[in-house]
Amino acid sequence: MEFFGRCIVLVLGLILNESLLCNGGVTSSFVRKVEKTIDMPLDSDVFGAPPGYNAPQQVHITQGDHEGKAVIVSWVTMDEPGSSTVLYWSEKSKQKNNAKGKVTTYKFYNYTSGYIHHSTIRHLEFNTKYYYKIGIGHTARTFWFVTPPPVGPDVPYTFGLIGDLGQSFDSNKTLTHYELNPIKGQAVLFVGDLSYADNYPNHDNVRWDTWGRFVERSTAYQPWIWTAGNHEIDFAPEIGETKPFKPYTHRYHVPYRASNSTSPLWYSIKRASAYIIVLSSYSAYGKYTPQYKWLEEELPKVNRTETPWLIVLLHSPWYNSYNYHYMEGETMRVMYEPWFVKYKVDIVFAGHVHAYERTERISNVAYNVVNGECTPIRDQSAPIYVTIGDGGNLEGLATNMTEPQPAYSAFREASFGHATLAIKNRTHAYYSWHRNQDGYAVEADKIWVNNRIWNPVDESMALAVS
Ligand SMILES: *[C@@H]1O[C@H](CO)[C@@H](O)[C@H](O)[C@H]1NC(C)=O
Ligand SMILES: *[C@@H]1O[C@H](CO)[C@@H](O)[C@H](O)[C@H]1NC(C)=O
Ligand SMILES: *[C@@H]1O[C@H](CO)[C@@H](O)[C@H](O)[C@H]1NC(C)=O
Ligand SMILES: *[C@@H]1O[C@H](CO)[C@@H](O)[C@H](O)[C@H]1NC(C)=O
Ligand SMILES: *[C@@H]1O[C@H](CO)[C@@H](O)[C@H](O)[C@H]1NC(C)=O
Ligand SMILES: *[C@@H]1O[C@H](CO)[C@@H](O)[C@H](O)[C@H]1NC(C)=O
Ligand SMILES: [Fe+2]
Repeated sequence: MEFFGRCIVLVLGLILNESLLCNGGVTSSFVRKVEKTIDMPLDSDVFGAPPGYNAPQQVHITQGDHEGKAVIVSWVTMDEPGSSTVLYWSEKSKQKNNAKGKVTTYKFYNYTSGYIHHSTIRHLEFNTKYYYKIGIGHTARTFWFVTPPPVGPDVPYTFGLIGDLGQSFDSNKTLTHYELNPIKGQAVLFVGDLSYADNYPNHDNVRWDTWGRFVERSTAYQPWIWTAGNHEIDFAPEIGETKPFKPYTHRYHVPYRASNSTSPLWYSIKRASAYIIVLSSYSAYGKYTPQYKWLEEELPKVNRTETPWLIVLLHSPWYNSYNYHYMEGETMRVMYEPWFVKYKVDIVFAGHVHAYERTERISNVAYNVVNGECTPIRDQSAPIYVTIGDGGNLEGLATNMTEPQPAYSAFREASFGHATLAIKNRTHAYYSWHRNQDGYAVEADKIWVNNRIWNPVDESMALAVS
């Protein structure tokens, strides 16, 4: 607990600027054998297609409206379009209902997709287990999900955090660790970079299909909240593919219209006691752009009496002390960080850097070209920034860190893993990070997060005292 030790010194000497005193947090000394990260071969068990004529595959669900009473069900059929209807019933009533959907396809260079179905089930009851059946008329498959509790300030809810997953043997370990973590995640906040199909020749979109089959064991049963990363852009003019985000937006639908967004790349949802804003690092975010105008109108709408927890997801981290993608998030930080401080965002989750890092509450908003003030300072109105791009994709780990560890960085480690955020009530959430090398219950980094509106106490101070 070396880092709290330093910060106790800091409490005693508190008149001085903390950022000058605190010499950075913990660079974990955990040592692992850094092996090459290898994609699972096409004939791996996790990529097997379900048996039967035109059987639905790559099944995934996400929230389908603004407050959690709708679910978008998506799947692919390979032989023919088949039915886009979802048959669903609640555990309580057993009364069967239909939701009609739509089917789409796309081409990418010489690849033609299967039949991609999206169907939104609406007017669900909160806190209820539903079964759903798809593939009607051919090979039917049945899955289930549980709707969230009604939106409210003290509603406990647990999110999983996964980023940059890919489809390597390590990706499979990350997903398994998430599934077997005794802190049971109820929905996944996914911070971008899904399949890494674009790392294959001609962005071989078959790897979008294998990825969809790989993650189905989780995505069919709990909603994954999607964020677009750079591996979703699929911009390849050399093979005539000039429409960014084509495979991603065909395959992964999100409820963007429910938050009055004009693009699926940025949107918001409420879930239990959390308000989640998803941003796009790879869409225009400068002043006057659609994303800027949407976010400007969005932030004042967040009612922290109703949803105390304000969480932002984006792909390219604003605070990152690895020598990978260093400062790539800087221009977006310059545009939006003053808003995050003004509206007291609780936590920002990002991916992109294939490692783990958590910051102190810091901001860096004083700079104005001539004043030279460009060092992050402790700021209790600022979010905690977490980089969770350690899902385990084929590009491997980011191991090279900037030295010394900057003062803003509380904990960093180059290991694959995932995190969970267990919101307890309006004041407290328990956050922990789990590395793949450990047992399922082991927490390698953990912190009680204090809500910025209802409990704006410095987390490290509270811990140093106890
Ligand atoms: C697409 O083209 C590549 C080479 O350009 C070839 O290897 C591959 O087999 C083709 N795939 C299809 C589905 O035609
Ligand atoms: C992936 O993980 C699952 C669950 O642990 C396991 O059953 C499966 O064999 C693994 N597959 C590969 C290719 O590692
Ligand atoms: C979206 O805009 C409509 C019309 O202006 C408004 O009624 C609705 O409350 C807005 N929804 C959200 C989530 O902001
Ligand atoms: C905020 O939410 C609370 C609780 O739902 C509600 O009583 C209050 O009217 C809302 N405030 C605004 C400005 O909508
Ligand atoms: C780590 O990154 C720095 C900055 O890019 C570079 O100078 C250095 O050689 C790298 N170290 C290793 C071991 O790759
Ligand atoms: C909120 O949750 C924390 C952590 O579980 C607990 O210590 C605290 O007493 C709770 N607050 C209320 C008002 O229940
Ligand atoms: Fe990325």
